[in-house]
Amino acid sequence: MNQATSSWIDAGPVDAIPSPGARQLRTPQGNIAVVRTVSGTVYAIADSCPHKGGPLSQGMVFGERVQCPMHGLVIELATGTAVAPDVGVTATYPVQIEGGRIFIDVAAPKTAAVSQGCGGECACAKAA
Ligand code: FES
Repeated sequence: MNQATSSWIDAGPVDAIPSPGARQLRTPQGNIAVVRTVSGTVYAIADSCPHKGGPLSQGMVFGERVQCPMHGLVIELATGTAVAPDVGVTATYPVQIEGGRIFIDVAAPKTAAVSQGCGGECACAKAA
């Protein structure tokens, strides 16, 4: 991480986030859900569900996934991808842990967000 030329931001201490749990990080690039799983892995994903923008930082974390609190869509934290039969992707961001602190590259998403286009068979149709 080259802090002199990069867009890495300090998201605070790892221990400030319950395991499992999440909190919202506000950035100029938009809100990010910083998620810590029971295994201790920390992920950073856009705090916006690909269904209707629900706050993923308020969702239930289980395994390496988070469930949107709005209508129940489940997101794989490593990829930002919705678990089938739902579709859609939320942006994910690189994370590094240094000295017990979380650093996130907010300007270089690993995956880009893709809205759902389910055709009527997923959670968005049930929650419409
Ligand atoms: S807004 Fe997330 S499931 Fe609907």
